[in-house]
Amino acid sequence: MRAAQQIMRVFVSRRLPPEGHKILALAENCTVQQWDSDDPVPREELLKGVAGAHGLLCLLSDKIDKEVLDTAGPNLKVISTLSVGFDHLAIEEIRKRGIRVGYTPDVLTEATAELSVALLLATCRRLPEATQEVKNGGWKSWAPMWMCGYGLSNNTVGIIGLGRIGRQPRPERAAEVNAEYVPCEKLTEDSDFVIVSCSLTPETEGLCNKDFFSRMKKTSVFINISRGSAVNQEDLYQALVTGQIAAAGLDVTTPEPLPTNHPLLSLKNCVILPHIGSATYSTRNTMAVLAVNNLLKGLAGAEMPSELKI
Ligand code: DGY
Repeated sequence: MRAAQQIMRVFVSRRLPPEGHKILALAENCTVQQWDSDDPVPREELLKGVAGAHGLLCLLSDKIDKEVLDTAGPNLKVISTLSVGFDHLAIEEIRKRGIRVGYTPDVLTEATAELSVALLLATCRRLPEATQEVKNGGWKSWAPMWMCGYGLSNNTVGIIGLGRIGRQPRPERAAEVNAEYVPCEKLTEDSDFVIVSCSLTPETEGLCNKDFFSRMKKTSVFINISRGSAVNQEDLYQALVTGQIAAAGLDVTTPEPLPTNHPLLSLKNCVILPHIGSATYSTRNTMAVLAVNNLLKGLAGAEMPSELKI
């Protein structure tokens, strides 16, 4: 007679994209408790949900720290995050407890690289400001210097963090926008546009600070698609108001969401997006499928499609 398989208890901290949800709903030997909402799980619900769980499927907005891990207790075998970034996970604590971690690299590379080009263009050519002018009556007539911005042609794009995403704008997209690409790690002086796409580590935290901006050209445009804390936002604000740099486009901020009264939001030369780098329907579904498969394989003690080596 076959021994009965252990039923695994799983906590999922948000409503999932449909393709991932379908797979999880069919999973055998699993009971799933879910924060079934598009809003973030409140901390106390996360703590309640994770207590005694064998698996946790979480998002980048959930802080998985010592308290969460202690509350989960020794049952917890797998954490699967619906993200490529893992700065929300207390990796050292997780390692100590022998918990396996799944994440979603590669599948969001294209979407995020596309967004970086879109944000660069929107910032350089002042698209949000221009659409606003159409709506608020600021569009009086065609005027030679009105709404001028920076073109990408014959300019250089420097990318900090030549990982999966950083490599993507090139060659096809850089060629499309006809910009010369500068692959170098310390590139501020030489680049017309700087895109930050590195992972957040102790080395890159606060990397873009006063000194960094002071080495950029006055006509240069700064883009961040990495994590908000790669940038010192007070220093960025100063660089933008004093004309130290021309403009900035941010897909990530600290905190997220950025309070609507944040000083950066008062600046016309700062374009801010709500962390939508990977937000295409197909990418988010693919991420969810990968995250669910990571979770299920991890619970089964099998090889995960994408395990973070910690
Ligand atoms: C990630 O996955 O870490 C991105 O920031 C959002 O898709």
